[in-house]
Amino acid sequence: MDNSQKYFKNIQSDFIGLDTLYTRVDGKKTKRIYLDSTASTLMMKAAYNGIESFYDHYANTHSLLHFSAKTATKNYRWAHERILSFIKADAEKYACFFTGSGTTAGINRMARVFRDFQPDRDVVLVSLMEHHSNDLPHRKHAGKVVHIPLDNHEGQPGCINMEILKEKLEQYKDRINYIAMTGVSNVTGIINPIYDIAELAHKYQALILVDGAQMAAHIPVQISGHSNPLRNIDAFVFSGHKTYVPGSPGVVICRKDILSSMEPEEVGGGMVDQVHVDRYTITDQFPDREEAGTPNIPGAIGLAAAIDVLDKIGMEFIYEDETSLITNALNQIKQIEHVIIYGETNCSLCPRAASISFNIRGLDHGLVAAILNDYHNIAVRNECFCAHPYVKEMIIEELFDTGIDLNEIDINSELKVKAGMVRASFGIYSTKEDVNALVSALKDIVAKRDEYVKLYSLDGTGLYHHKTFKPVEADLFNVESFINEYLQNL
Ligand code: ALA
Repeated sequence: MDNSQKYFKNIQSDFIGLDTLYTRVDGKKTKRIYLDSTASTLMMKAAYNGIESFYDHYANTHSLLHFSAKTATKNYRWAHERILSFIKADAEKYACFFTGSGTTAGINRMARVFRDFQPDRDVVLVSLMEHHSNDLPHRKHAGKVVHIPLDNHEGQPGCINMEILKEKLEQYKDRINYIAMTGVSNVTGIINPIYDIAELAHKYQALILVDGAQMAAHIPVQISGHSNPLRNIDAFVFSGHKTYVPGSPGVVICRKDILSSMEPEEVGGGMVDQVHVDRYTITDQFPDREEAGTPNIPGAIGLAAAIDVLDKIGMEFIYEDETSLITNALNQIKQIEHVIIYGETNCSLCPRAASISFNIRGLDHGLVAAILNDYHNIAVRNECFCAHPYVKEMIIEELFDTGIDLNEIDINSELKVKAGMVRASFGIYSTKEDVNALVSALKDIVAKRDEYVKLYSLDGTGLYHHKTFKPVEADLFNVESFINEYLQNL
């Protein structure tokens, strides 16, 4: 067994929350099957232990001379360097900085940075599959956003349509400031060819920003050092809470020359050299100039620890393993009658990572998610996953099937009721057994569809509730009770 396999095997089962027990409708207490990693991954124990040990030395990185301050500063600096090397970004040319608690804050920041870097260019191209966090910030801060449609695989969407992207680049030419593109869809898991897109963008002197929220933990990334430098990425943003360290910050990696060309967005302590009452000078040091205020030091160190583990396993290895898990899941789910999977399902035509979204024909996505939870202890997410245009586009196809006359209805109000899917999503700890459990649960729901429908009622907020079963209170965590008990035992 080589090191990749050895580390992978040991780490795969070493996550907090894999043994969490909940009581199902049948009264059995079983292990939760966590298939909601695209929303947030579970905590890697190695990173958790690293953070816990660091707390013995915790101090602010703005302090300088005591032992703990030096320790904190050294480890915090290592976190930035480790992340840059993980995604193969040349540390001479790229800066890594932490911001917010997910990808959203970083993308908002980059939209303003790119706007100010090329103020004469007012158009941003995004794909139709973007999460709102890689669409709305550009609408709000950067100018006119043009949505590029997706490849059509006999009615099923694939990745971004490169021909239309070229047409739009040609159409808007030097009005285009940048392309903002997700590396991996958070709905279908479909992967975009980001390096081809970078090459195209750069031919038009446009920049490229990649939303790496669903990419960093799943696929090898190479920001710079491509033999064709046009294929390098200008900015990449991802989330710590989707990279096995809940509670860690969002991460931005961006070309230093872009960041250095303007005053940082946020000002305050830690990013200045000199402050007088009438003026201040900003440090030219990275990441300091981009991180005003005290950062989330333990979160950043924990994230870098998790990333170190992923890198030691090897991202190629992780990607291959996940591809075979997803292919297996797609192949099995495809066989279930009445289940519709969204997006092209042939992974060799259209590679995927992390997520599969589907519906059971005739059953509301909310009901399916509730049954998966209550009867099978399988945690999934449902609804539109903060990607309304993409989900609606795919659901519209189905409305045609229902016989509803689309000219007679208000599509928006109709879609408000109908739009949504169920999403099963995977992480490094997901196993074939998890996939098999999902497949057998879906078969059960399809077989007993009418029975299940009668057992649930819908409340005014669109949530389904079992008519007789209630979650067992003792199974659920309550922080106030935890603290009360803790205090009593002191
Ligand atoms: N953006 C996260 C998701 O896709 C929360 O579920």
